[in-house]
Amino acid sequence: MTELNAANAGTYKFDDQFIVNRLGYGTMQLTGKGTWGPYSDPAHAADVVTRATELGINFFDTADSYGPWFADRYLADGLKGAANRDKIFISDKVGQTRQGPGIWTPHGEPNYLRQQVEVSMMTLGIDHEDLVFLHRIDTHFPIAEQVGELKKLQDEGKIKHIGLSQVTVDQIKEAQKYAQIDAVENLYNVGNHKDDDVVDYAESQNMAFLPWFPLDTGKLVGNDSPLSSIAKKYGVSEAQIALAWLLKRSPNILPIPGTSSIEHLEDNVAAANVTLSDADFEQLSNLAK
Ligand SMILES: NC(=O)c1ccc[n+]([C@@H]2O[C@H](COP(=O)([O-])OP(=O)(O)OC[C@H]3O[C@@H](n4cnc5c(N)ncnc54)[C@H](OP(=O)(O)O)[C@@H]3O)[C@@H](O)[C@H]2O)c1
Repeated sequence: MTELNAANAGTYKFDDQFIVNRLGYGTMQLTGKGTWGPYSDPAHAADVVTRATELGINFFDTADSYGPWFADRYLADGLKGAANRDKIFISDKVGQTRQGPGIWTPHGEPNYLRQQVEVSMMTLGIDHEDLVFLHRIDTHFPIAEQVGELKKLQDEGKIKHIGLSQVTVDQIKEAQKYAQIDAVENLYNVGNHKDDDVVDYAESQNMAFLPWFPLDTGKLVGNDSPLSSIAKKYGVSEAQIALAWLLKRSPNILPIPGTSSIEHLEDNVAAANVTLSDADFEQLSNLAK
């Protein structure tokens, strides 16, 4: 049997130290309903993170706004005592405020972005951020000021790499005037690839592309999944097909599926062993048309 390890997906290199396996993990499922409040079983949430490290996952996507803060606390707990902690990397996001379950309000005031980076480092128990995304561009402030504040934090050694989330190609180009942008995180999956142009631009600029909702929040998996017939053909789960499609779509794509289940986590990591044929890749790509 092929070994279950995220390393089988290959690697993505941000810099000479920051090299990660191309199958990561997103912490957003480790909160209460509506990404609000604590997860019902905090010890289990930390166990999911620890199990992810055992499966070779060394790239974790999180945000201050998940909970807020609860997911970050479980992530920090789950990474405590991890073997090779210095080879495990976190992508963080700042710039969204929360007022209740399912409510998200962008806030890009530079002082607020700085505060959230500082408090996130304390919560995560880290002395610098590997990668920080501006979670959303806030139209109340110039992009120059929002990206400019992240650039200042980078110049101070608090952030290694800067990213943007849910942006157009034009917005990335605008932000590139003020800082080097090394990653983009947009909604993208096999059933919804409206942002193909952003994926192509990211690849052309040597930026990582993190597709959020890689499983379309679970709609791509399960009995009535549009991926069932191809999943049967390969003898794998629908989740694995959805992730294998992303891995084949571009070498710059770094999927970060979210789950609160160790069984699903193991299922997702097994996607690293699935290689789609070109014909099946094309057939799957047409699903979104
Ligand atoms: N930048 C942004 O604006 C943004 C927005 C949304 C999300 N994100 C990031 O993207 C990550 C991924 O998104 P997501 O977690 O919201 O959605 P997702 O990965 O598309 O799907 C997660 C859902 O699928 C289920 N699931 C996961 N693996 C499964 C499997 N193998 N079989 C069956 N069901 C499975 C999960 O339930 P169980 O818990 O039961 O497994 C959960 O309901 C987040 O964790 C977060 O880090 C970023």
